[in-house]
Amino acid sequence: MPRYGLWSSPFMFVLAVIGSALGLGNIWKFPYLVGQYGGSAFVLVYLACVAVVGLPLMVAELMLGRRGRHTPIYSLLRIAREEGLSGGWSVIGWLGSITGILVLSTYSIIGGWSMAYVFRSAAGTFHGLDAVTAARQFQELTGDPERLLAWHTLFVAVTTLVVGRGLRHGIEEAVRWFMPVLLTILGILVFYAHGQPSFDRAVEFLLRPDFARLDGYALLAALGHAFFSLSLGVGAMVIYGAYAPERVPLLAAAPVAVLADTLIGLLAGLAIFPVVFQAGLDPSAGPGLIFQTLPLAFGGIPGGQLTGTLFFAMLVFAAWTSAISMLEPAVTYVMERWRLERALAASLMGVLVWSLGLLSLLSFNLWSHLHPLGDWFTPGRGTFFDVLIFFVTGLLLPLTGLLTAIFVGWRMSPDTSRIELGGGWGYHLWLILIRFATPVAVGLLFLQAIGLVDLLLVWEAL
Ligand code: PHE
Repeated sequence: MPRYGLWSSPFMFVLAVIGSALGLGNIWKFPYLVGQYGGSAFVLVYLACVAVVGLPLMVAELMLGRRGRHTPIYSLLRIAREEGLSGGWSVIGWLGSITGILVLSTYSIIGGWSMAYVFRSAAGTFHGLDAVTAARQFQELTGDPERLLAWHTLFVAVTTLVVGRGLRHGIEEAVRWFMPVLLTILGILVFYAHGQPSFDRAVEFLLRPDFARLDGYALLAALGHAFFSLSLGVGAMVIYGAYAPERVPLLAAAPVAVLADTLIGLLAGLAIFPVVFQAGLDPSAGPGLIFQTLPLAFGGIPGGQLTGTLFFAMLVFAAWTSAISMLEPAVTYVMERWRLERALAASLMGVLVWSLGLLSLLSFNLWSHLHPLGDWFTPGRGTFFDVLIFFVTGLLLPLTGLLTAIFVGWRMSPDTSRIELGGGWGYHLWLILIRFATPVAVGLLFLQAIGLVDLLLVWEAL
């Protein structure tokens, strides 16, 4: 048993995994990617990436955690030693834990915007909004470092507090309360959207394939998003697996979580697009879809003030249950390595995330003219925030994923994975996928990401 205990039940374990997976990726990013890349054709490609890469890797990460029963770095070290392999494989744990901190430092900024928008919506700011004002309001927020700092600080503080309270009293409590609230709000919003005359159009947009708009960019975006949306490559699933009760069949738990993540992403689309269509707006607005198009839409429909507020509250809850899983690997490492109290370890990591977050925060205002990689990186767009996101989604996540697939599929003995996963046809299918399909698909993404020529393409895709 790990030092910090176990989830109180298999149900809580699965709920926590879903809580981690379900986040800004589903509600903010997935809908805008779908909008940008031609609706349902993108959805289909995404589903294929989830099945071939996402699901096998999620099983692998959960299994590594449960086998190692430690913070990801020590879990990997322990398993490698048990298998008679080099301790160097703990690099998977290192990459994951560090990437988790980096992701969180950028995630917190968007989480902060979401919090700000809860209050804006509740205050009726969206009422009768026009496109120019919506854009200006968004720029006023991102252009003001002081306001961003307040939201960023609050977001990091809540995350740190939850993680600092421990597995049962912090993480599990947060999941127990936030998840039902989040799902209820989503239910209300979809119900509301269902009543909109544009609902059918949204369903068609999401579910009727239009392959004409599908291209290489879309493929890469779908693969990268599968990683991000399932919280892979940052040690989150490894540490959540470390707390999984022995009797949970991981080969069943992972598909449930993946299915829930995907379905909820689609439902978020069903909540958003009818409103967007109803207001006569364009679904392919990109990252601004949620913070510019949607307020515009909410401002123009009856009951928009309440539904808008609920929507952004849902976004905040989803972001929090993800953020805690990004912080946990690094916090548990600091605890184990220096034998620190959890609260202290969490505070230290919180300060680190907060400080790193300043790079992203300032990218939208005072440092928006700074391009750390110069012209080498997509001229004109490479702020610290852009560069961080690119390195994380384009390089670090696929690299960690690739190493994980190689380690689990080729270096660890199949006997070990069979014991952990229980054998059967599901196990054999998984082994084939993790050995062949996953490394090839991830390798492709990775090669694209490091090829200088393709750098631009990848960026476009992100
Ligand atoms: N899966 C989360 C989302 O969709 C993001 C995340 C990434 C969470 C990595 C934890 C770890 O928003």
